[in-house]
Amino acid sequence: MITLLAACAAPPGEPPPLPVRSGDSGTIAAPSEPRRPALVSPAAAVDLDPDPDVLHVALTAAPHAWEVAGIRVDGSAYNGQVPGPTLRARIGDAVVVDITNALPEATTVHWHGVRVPIAMDGAGWPMETIPPGGTFQARFTVDRPGTFWYHPHFDTAHQVDRGLYGALIVEDPDDPLPDVDLVAVFDTVGEPEAMAHDPHLVDASLTDWTVNGQLDPVLAVPAGAVVRARLVNASNAGYLDLRGDTVIAHDQGLLAAPEEGVVLAPGDRAELEWRVGGGFTVNRHPYTVAGGVAHGDPVRLLEVRAEGAADPPAPLPWAFSGAPPSADPGRTDIRLLFSGSPELGWEIDGQTFPDVVVPQVALGQPLVIEVRNASPAIHPFHLHGHTFEVLSVDGAPPPSQRIEDTVDVPVHGRVRLALVADNPGVWMMHCHVLAHADGGMMTLLDVRE
Ligand code: C2O
Ligand code: CU
Repeated sequence: MITLLAACAAPPGEPPPLPVRSGDSGTIAAPSEPRRPALVSPAAAVDLDPDPDVLHVALTAAPHAWEVAGIRVDGSAYNGQVPGPTLRARIGDAVVVDITNALPEATTVHWHGVRVPIAMDGAGWPMETIPPGGTFQARFTVDRPGTFWYHPHFDTAHQVDRGLYGALIVEDPDDPLPDVDLVAVFDTVGEPEAMAHDPHLVDASLTDWTVNGQLDPVLAVPAGAVVRARLVNASNAGYLDLRGDTVIAHDQGLLAAPEEGVVLAPGDRAELEWRVGGGFTVNRHPYTVAGGVAHGDPVRLLEVRAEGAADPPAPLPWAFSGAPPSADPGRTDIRLLFSGSPELGWEIDGQTFPDVVVPQVALGQPLVIEVRNASPAIHPFHLHGHTFEVLSVDGAPPPSQRIEDTVDVPVHGRVRLALVADNPGVWMMHCHVLAHADGGMMTLLDVRE
């Protein structure tokens, strides 16, 4: 549990600016000049390898007292920063991460959404942890562009809540260049312990959200600029209902077609295209884990402040595939029933991890997984080591093909997913409300060679 060492009100006045971390001059270039986009994100880690096709960084997890809005949190951090360093690679790059555990407890690092070999997953079964004082070198190749993240997968709810998480961006060099590439990692602060357990509480009215560790920051951009906003929901249990924005990507890179609005479940990512004419605010709408959209006023998450005056620019020429959703083959290979309640605990198929019966499938086998939710709370389903296509949610196919690794399962709802079990190992499948997962709402998929 987070310990508040000292609590005082945030000083009134100007919201903090989101810092520009790199870009040629530290300022945002005018949109017409040839340039790299200005990168606004939690500070990057130093790349230790001069080879442009290798990203080699060091991450140290250690106790760290951090502060937000005058509240000091006796938490943890990677490299002394919350969120942890932003890792930026390009498709095809080798990623090498030297992990040091300077925590007084075991930990792991899991690369959420990235297709890594099982030995690098920081999870799975049996799971090898990094003991206190221990080190581990993670090595994998990134083969899919998108916005991913990393976090521990041991005592997960507590370790993530204390500040251990960061973004991993995989760039596609063929993408059109925005003026600003923003990485915004969201978390909840002062999250009441009860919230994770009691679906009847409205999270929106109980917690504050931070954006890259800041409350209600300002992103200043030149009018006429296009911002590619990469959002990561690193909250243990909070949902972000964002409406009105143009969504270009979900968990696994570009969507097949742009969409409007997104609900980010815990663990989810999305990318938005902001075409800045005048300034605007990015708001979240009240949302409950007991059934979704709730009544109440929107609350500001951050402000985008336009400098100067210009008409909103045209959308960038993103390479949307336009593919329709695949037809549902009709059969079900694996059925998972999510059930439970705050009082009884959370289960999959009536089982509590690690006392689970593990389905075995052959490498290369196509699978249809159906996740049913018989509980009074929504649960984000996450599968490790693979991507899946969402065939339908409560019987309705998505508007276009949707490839994900994390998908929300509505209260009393049913989600059907298609994938090919193409990565050998014993992989975790679980709810990404971390208290539910740690409470046992987790199971495994054994993909055998
Ligand atoms: Cu982001 Cu199994 O987790
Ligand atoms: Cu859950």
